[in-house]
Amino acid sequence: MTARRAPVVTAQRLTKVFGAGENAVQALRGIDVSFESGAFTAIMGPSGSGKSTLMHCLAGLESATCGRVEVGGAEITGMGDRELTMLRRERVGFVFQSFNLLPMLTAEQNILLPLEIAGKKPDRAFFDELAGVTGLQKRLGHLPSELSGGQQQRVAIARAFVARPDVVFADEPTGNLDSVSGTGVLDFLRTSVRRFGQTVVMVTHDARAASYADRAVFLRDGALVDDMHEPATDAVLQTMVKLEV
Ligand SMILES: Nc1ncnc2c1ncn2[C@@H]1O[C@H](COP(=O)(O)OP(=O)(O)OP(=O)(O)O)[C@@H](O)[C@H]1O
Ligand SMILES: [Mg+2]
Repeated sequence: MTARRAPVVTAQRLTKVFGAGENAVQALRGIDVSFESGAFTAIMGPSGSGKSTLMHCLAGLESATCGRVEVGGAEITGMGDRELTMLRRERVGFVFQSFNLLPMLTAEQNILLPLEIAGKKPDRAFFDELAGVTGLQKRLGHLPSELSGGQQQRVAIARAFVARPDVVFADEPTGNLDSVSGTGVLDFLRTSVRRFGQTVVMVTHDARAASYADRAVFLRDGALVDDMHEPATDAVLQTMVKLEV
């Protein structure tokens, strides 16, 4: 019998409404989902279906209108700003489509920033392993402006992983990359899940990117409409076509 791995992130009846009255937008309509420890999950769906909103609510970047979100066993719905800031700092890593690196810091300084902010000592062996897996060893002393897009994104990913958060959320991490750099980033995400047992949740439009994940969940119009194990590119494409009509 295989033990089920514990969920790291759970949403129950998660609802998000932007605006009020006539202008109200129901971005999430009662989502129930959980993400297991050590798994790599893709969130997919048409533009405007609520992918980024879901990720932001799960990560405590956006407050839920209704329902409940737990991260690492802590209920975040109802937390105050201070508590949320601590939670994001200690338990959550982020990768954005536009790398969000600090321009005057080197690659190494950017990667170590979350630990610096938290006042923690870097685990040098883990840092070296991250630099190795991301292929950044020779670029660590360079500024972001001296790196390619793919290298900058790998710096952003190493930064999201360095403090070993409970979960890393990535919103279209390959959206701004050419296919070779994108493949490098996806390989790294998958390797890190296997090698470090990291939990990763990635929003993507790209069926091939989703095929690197262990699971793909599909949103349409703010609702979860499909949940696929070991998503293959073809199966993902078929589901996406169904959702867009
Ligand atoms: N701050 C906001 N204020 C008002 N409406 C918003 C806000 N953010 C998102 N929305 C709306 O909520 C819905 C879901 O948006 P969301 O950004 O989550 O979609 P998405 O699936 O990430 O789309 P895309 O693939 O284009 O990034 C959309 O109708 C969007 O217009
Ligand atoms: Mg989005």
